[in-house]
Amino acid sequence: MLETIQSNVRLLGKLLGQTIAIDHGDDFLEKIESVRNLGKDLNRDEQQALKLLQDEFSSASEAQLKVYSRAFSQFLNLVNIAEQQFTISEKGLQQLELAHPLEEFQKKLDESTTEKFEQALQKLHVELVLTAHPTEVNRRTFIHKYHDLAEQLDSPEKNSERIEELIEQAWFTNEIRNERPTPLEESRWGLDTIADSLWQAVPEFMRELNELSQQVLGKDLPLDYAPVTMASWQAGDRDGNPFVTAKLSELAITNARLRAAELYLQDFQNLYLELSMHKADENLIAQDAERIGPYRQVLASVIAQLKHSINQLQQGSTETAISSTEQLLEPLQLCYQSLCNQGLQKIANSSLLDVIRRVKCFGISMVKLDIRQHSERHDQAMAEVTQALNLGDYQTWKEEQKVAFLLCELQNSRPLLPAQKWSADTQEVLDTYAMIARQPKEVLGIYIISMASRTSDVLLVNLFLKAHGVDWAMPIAPLFETLDDLNNAPAVMAELLKLESYMQRCERQHYVMIGYSDSAKDAGVLAATWAQYTSQEALVKLFEQNKVQLKLFHGRGGTIGRGGGPAHAAIASQPPGTLCGGLRVTEQGETIRYKFGLPHLAVRSLHLYASAILESLITPPPAPKKEWRQLMDKMAEQSCASYRSYVREREDFVRYFRQATPEQELSSLPLGSRPSKRKKDGGIESLRAIPWIFAWSQNRLVVPSWLGLGQAIADNLDSNKALMQDMLKEWPYFKARISLTEMVYLKSSPEVSELYDQALVEDELLALGKELRHQLKQDEQAVLNLLGQKRVMESDSWNLSSFELRRPYLLPLHLMQVEALKRLRQNPEHPELEQILMVTMAGIATGMRNTG
Ligand code: PGA
Repeated sequence: MLETIQSNVRLLGKLLGQTIAIDHGDDFLEKIESVRNLGKDLNRDEQQALKLLQDEFSSASEAQLKVYSRAFSQFLNLVNIAEQQFTISEKGLQQLELAHPLEEFQKKLDESTTEKFEQALQKLHVELVLTAHPTEVNRRTFIHKYHDLAEQLDSPEKNSERIEELIEQAWFTNEIRNERPTPLEESRWGLDTIADSLWQAVPEFMRELNELSQQVLGKDLPLDYAPVTMASWQAGDRDGNPFVTAKLSELAITNARLRAAELYLQDFQNLYLELSMHKADENLIAQDAERIGPYRQVLASVIAQLKHSINQLQQGSTETAISSTEQLLEPLQLCYQSLCNQGLQKIANSSLLDVIRRVKCFGISMVKLDIRQHSERHDQAMAEVTQALNLGDYQTWKEEQKVAFLLCELQNSRPLLPAQKWSADTQEVLDTYAMIARQPKEVLGIYIISMASRTSDVLLVNLFLKAHGVDWAMPIAPLFETLDDLNNAPAVMAELLKLESYMQRCERQHYVMIGYSDSAKDAGVLAATWAQYTSQEALVKLFEQNKVQLKLFHGRGGTIGRGGGPAHAAIASQPPGTLCGGLRVTEQGETIRYKFGLPHLAVRSLHLYASAILESLITPPPAPKKEWRQLMDKMAEQSCASYRSYVREREDFVRYFRQATPEQELSSLPLGSRPSKRKKDGGIESLRAIPWIFAWSQNRLVVPSWLGLGQAIADNLDSNKALMQDMLKEWPYFKARISLTEMVYLKSSPEVSELYDQALVEDELLALGKELRHQLKQDEQAVLNLLGQKRVMESDSWNLSSFELRRPYLLPLHLMQVEALKRLRQNPEHPELEQILMVTMAGIATGMRNTG
């Protein structure tokens, strides 16, 4: 099955080669080819090939290194394109036996499950939350070219001239941004993805879901059904990002409303062309004053409103712009009903229904903007307020005192905030609430509190909302993201659930956000995932007892160390009962392209989500047996101790990390709008989870994604092998954990990490690197022993060969990165070297795809 991909890779590689030759001559192309061959030679004569490659790069000038790094990075992009095209082509789907997820799901249904299916369908809800971070390293211009390339490869008559042209365009364009994107740009990229892809994909997905409903239940989906909705953090997440201000969020919302109005205008104009019929309900005919046709009359008025909105929003004014989905929906529903009443169902259920579904999914602003802020910032702002009121320093109060004060203020009808000048930080926090109060409710999502750990964190946000006159109950989500906070989450929520007035405000439903990456950074993957699991279980129970609807929001990253992995496995390994309140999940910057960049990719991702959720709702995963739970408790503790024995207890760990990976350099590169640390100074704790994991994946030691787990397996394998095998077979949570770890082992490389150490790490610290690599090998062996396998992913030939395809391009990129780092550390702030480093980072990330 690899043949098709390989032949496309060869074709694309050859064309890229020709383009490079135009730019740098045949001689240089020959050099590149010889590097490529050495990369392939590694399996045969590793030492010799390695030496030749190192010599080549150490003697290369910066200009040459830049060409090399661009060439290999682009090769890897081309490999991805060829592979992606294969996986979505008819042939690929057949050969990979990638069945249609909804069809597969349907096969599992029978008469006994029809009723459950109907209930599950009612509960089905996915809210995709687009985040800006990590920012996609590829520029949008490139993404467009890559998509176009994939489409050209997909057509039976490959248009080689166009392919050649696109490759040339890409080569002669600078792939790296020179400046950090602003949060507004990040938000624009998210909207672009929707406009380019999801705008088409959602109605298409809905049509297929409707077909399923018809086949199984014999009826259509209800008209107001909206199983997919969209939210965003882009330009709304201000935690640790000083560039996201109240003003900027407001601008982002206005822009999003404008984009939405423009898209709807096209949709309504299309409908205007189509719905020219005169057969309509009496009330519609009666309104057709201009005699342009009853449907057109209705549509014309919305078109006029949309044009007016566009005009207003373009000038930055929102006052008379469309401000509720009802303004769009009502006329559409009126037309729909009339068409159905007149027996014109076919027309009703075509483009018109698509637009109705778009309005239900995308609302008036394409995405609902979430607001996210760190709990500490709220506390500091409140401390300034209590000091201004002569009540003392809020931050020093005990939790009970804070809660009592907040509850009292929530009941108080006099204004909380004295009119005075606040510090800039406090003003910004308060301005954000004022901004929220100015928006129509429909353009906003929920308010997330980072590093939440106490009841007062939630009540405080509630009070600030009230104090600014927010006249609707904006949902608040505490984000629990350290091991202790996850473990404490049920206790904190239990306190909140007891507060009757607060529960009434929330209409007996509440969000809780689970943080995947920071908890893994804090405690290692195994302990973190187990805490996420048990905490969710306890929350489900608590909320059921209190008859409150639990709405879980999963803060998953794209990479395994940040909670990523295939959506299907992730959903199947959720504890039972966690999907009843819908699935709200982050779709992070770098994965948006892979999952939603093209309409058919997006439709497939939606199928995967929907089928997995429906399946879990109909047949919930088993609750863990008592023995499984006991063993997991023990292993989580052991793995956390093992992880922390390196990360926290080894004095030299941070120094080693900084030398052996490009972490220090990473923060100065203009990758995203957000600084890589929450606070300027501070050690590893202040470093955000994304650069922490990204840096470790660049030297292929990928420490955060495996450290601790294998040791815990090794410690218990002799005494509990049968039990673990039972868990592997029967428990999706455990199975998913182990298979994701296998993927991490496959993509990690002690050999590559050693190359970084040799060139970049001071002698004193070398022993630590050696120890970590030894640990990695031992861990891998323990997992193999558990699985009874000789090598990782033995039975997954597709993933194995897919990675093999990239290996020859990855190694040269690592060696170039090492070379660039070496020179950069002697000669900091060297623009050309920084460029090379960025290109290699982007290239390695492209080659590694989902691990980190
Ligand atoms: P955060 O995201 O740094 O915004 O909390 C972490 C992640 O996505 O891994």
